[in-house]
Amino acid sequence: MDIAIIGTGYVGLVTGACFAEVGHRVVCVDSDESKVRLLQGGGIPIYEPGLDELVRANVAAGRLRFSGSVRDGVEEALVIFIAVPTPPLPDGGVDLSFIEAVAREIAGCLTEYRIVVDKSTVPVKTGEKVAETIKRYCKSRVDFDVVSNPEFLREGFAVQDLMRPDRVVIGARSPRPVQRLKELYAPFQAPVIVTDINSAELIKHAANSFLALKISYINAMAALCEASGANVQEVANGIGMDKRIGRAFLDAGLGFGGSCFPKDLSAFIKIAEQLGYDFALLKEVRNINAQQMDRFIRKIADTLWVIKDKRIGVLGLAFKQNTDDVRQSPAIEVCQRLAREGAILRVHDPRAMEKAKALLPDATFVEEMNDLAEGCDALVVATEWPEFKQLDLDRARRLMTHPIMIDGRNLFDPNEMERLGFIYKSIGR
Ligand code: UGA
Repeated sequence: MDIAIIGTGYVGLVTGACFAEVGHRVVCVDSDESKVRLLQGGGIPIYEPGLDELVRANVAAGRLRFSGSVRDGVEEALVIFIAVPTPPLPDGGVDLSFIEAVAREIAGCLTEYRIVVDKSTVPVKTGEKVAETIKRYCKSRVDFDVVSNPEFLREGFAVQDLMRPDRVVIGARSPRPVQRLKELYAPFQAPVIVTDINSAELIKHAANSFLALKISYINAMAALCEASGANVQEVANGIGMDKRIGRAFLDAGLGFGGSCFPKDLSAFIKIAEQLGYDFALLKEVRNINAQQMDRFIRKIADTLWVIKDKRIGVLGLAFKQNTDDVRQSPAIEVCQRLAREGAILRVHDPRAMEKAKALLPDATFVEEMNDLAEGCDALVVATEWPEFKQLDLDRARRLMTHPIMIDGRNLFDPNEMERLGFIYKSIGR
């Protein structure tokens, strides 16, 4: 099938590459000319495991190409995906101006039946607005359908999440576009859930908010564990083995960050408010997330007494493992708060150092993980990169002025750290 994807961010680019991989012909469109040129020249603007190879192979096979023109996509493709950003507004609401602009542009190029699929994360009822907009701005009377098809990929695991999805959600007003989308997704062999458009839109915000809720729940539990001498990982295992609860997203840490959860949670609270419902539960999820960061900074301060002029080595800058994305990264927030208190920062991340440089102008970026500890009064683990478990701890201890580690991701074993001579603190253990 011929498909067009408008917007080549994480979702758009990975979706385009995966659809091409299973045999569809895909044109990925972006208004950012420099990005289109980069992609046309074989470059990839983000780090995502497996994406590079996928893009290269499918461009070479003639199934994937890049364009700066929406018209190009609309003329060629039966199915047009909208995957443009929906950034937050200052009041927590969602800025839908990119979606509206793309809907108008599609309307201006429609000459025959098309299926317009919204993949961007949008407030419930956006599909209705997109349909109205296309109708209003389309000069001739062309038939079209609007579908909501939310995306559930995680950064760092995006290709595998797309190739093997838990489910595909298709929200539509009539059966006609559903059949085509089912054909499109058939190669992925995933269960398909067909709903109305509003339900599909709600599913996306409900899923992200529920996952954020699980994280805040376990972080609150970590506070109880610290106060009572229990171990939050054992509690998570104990409740997670109940199939009704599940172990996933019950890792206590620095709280959730990234470009999705914090934004989507605030958006959902706002959307609920506009629908006349006070979603106090989600407000508390957000509060717990903020408190978790405060508690971690307090833990560092309690351990070091005075932070000013302490040399602190921070392991991790990305908002989570397997990505170079530092947007809303808890690790960056830790660094910025420590810097504000007068700490001298040495930082390391396997992938995110380039993107973090502008955010941490005074930090020393250390290329080699095992050199980070040099002259440090403490090490802080801020991102759950599995590579950090390979840190040469003996060497780190020898390089440090004091062998102190504060682990915000529970990567190390407390008994082992004690045996190695570290003063070791972690989350909820
Ligand atoms: C999230 C969702 O998991 C995806 O399903 C969704 O498609 C995506 O948002 C989106 O809306 O685009 P992502 O933001 O890439 O994906 O990252 P997650 O793996 O969900 O992690 C989010 C944050 O939660 C990270 O800061 C991570 O460190 C933290 N986290 C995650 C925990 O603190 N504990 C956990 O147990 C799991």
